[in-house]
Amino acid sequence: MNLKNRKIFNKLLIEKKISKKIVYDLSPNSLFNDDIIEGIKVLLSKRITIGNITKKFEKEFSKYIGSKYALMVNSGSSANLLALFASINPLKKNKLKFGDEVLIPALCWSTSLWPIVQAGLKPVFVDTDPKTLNISIEDLKKKITKKTKAIMLVHVLGNCTNMDHIKSIIKSKNITLIEDACESLGSKYKNKYLGSYGTFGSFSFYYSHQITSGEGGMIVCNSRKDYEIIHSLRSHGWDRGLKNNNKNFNFINSGFNLRPTEIAAAIGYNQFKKLNTFKKIRSNNRKLIINKLVNSKNWTNQYQFVDAIKHLDPSWFGLPLLLNKKYIKQKARFLAKINKKGLETRPIISGNFVNQKSVKLYNLNHKKEKFYNTQNIEDRGFFIGIHLKKISNSELNFLEKNLLDLDEN
Ligand SMILES: Cc1ncc(COP(=O)(O)O)c(C=O)c1O
Repeated sequence: MNLKNRKIFNKLLIEKKISKKIVYDLSPNSLFNDDIIEGIKVLLSKRITIGNITKKFEKEFSKYIGSKYALMVNSGSSANLLALFASINPLKKNKLKFGDEVLIPALCWSTSLWPIVQAGLKPVFVDTDPKTLNISIEDLKKKITKKTKAIMLVHVLGNCTNMDHIKSIIKSKNITLIEDACESLGSKYKNKYLGSYGTFGSFSFYYSHQITSGEGGMIVCNSRKDYEIIHSLRSHGWDRGLKNNNKNFNFINSGFNLRPTEIAAAIGYNQFKKLNTFKKIRSNNRKLIINKLVNSKNWTNQYQFVDAIKHLDPSWFGLPLLLNKKYIKQKARFLAKINKKGLETRPIISGNFVNQKSVKLYNLNHKKEKFYNTQNIEDRGFFIGIHLKKISNSELNFLEKNLLDLDEN
């Protein structure tokens, strides 16, 4: 960047900080200049539609995750959409049928849920384990019936549930497993990456996640047949790219257009090469933040932290905090206060998703079931970012001062 551009850039950055008064963001600086340069190179090549960089990224990604196939898409939501629409596709062996039940944690993201409904399947909500923020195995077992044909796992903020239990449940019951690993790229349970356990695994490269391509995502699978289905669904139902003869306009399936641009692939691939470095920095920053809080003279157990489940080598991007029960009543006021001081926070995923108006609109919880643990996480929880640069002492002091500034009565 030349001096003039740098000055404009810095001015914009300062203006952004002043106007929004952000001192500690949820996710700053996720794109670096070397990432942007890779994107610019694609722009200058004037071939910005899907091409060889996307293919290379997919190949390296599948090798890293340990799945046979990876396919890049324009978002993590699109990856989930492909997973569900592939699961009901006429070309799929043992395909799911209209009305089949799919278990999903109540602590989920909007587009973990909606592809299930859009595919004509029936979501059944499962409560959460407050220790991991992930699906409760206990409640999961209660919810499994003959109608259960799939489980949509959502690995929350780099953490997961006991994957051994999940494996044994699906094995004995012939249930399809789909993993929404959109928040968990790089987390490894017993030497196997999250996302590689299921029939399909999805990842998001949205700007605040472990790596970013601005917008983008990846879907992985192990069967050639499944790969061919998602490949055709990604692109109009076309067989282009699957067969040697690309000249024919053969449409072998139904389809969407969920392709990424080559610009996003170039940025995402460059970030992907730095994933392990990012993981280490974030893991270290997480330890520094927790140590700072628990060793403060003002520490009175204001929070419960969420540790990685046993056997997990986690990849974080946010630090979930659960307020001690006695502070619940002041949570909204407290968050408004610290946000005003420049400390950005957000809910854990989107809290208890069953509370959302959209769930009521589609009458998805007609039995009016309560999800006590998930509600508890919504009532007590929020998260702050874990950044890609080593956290400074002044940032640590800022977090200590503000996060512990709760009224004692
Ligand atoms: C669990 C989960 N699934 C899916 C998504 C969707 O990813 P994207 O924003 O790339 O569409 C998100 C996004 O934050 C997410 O947190």
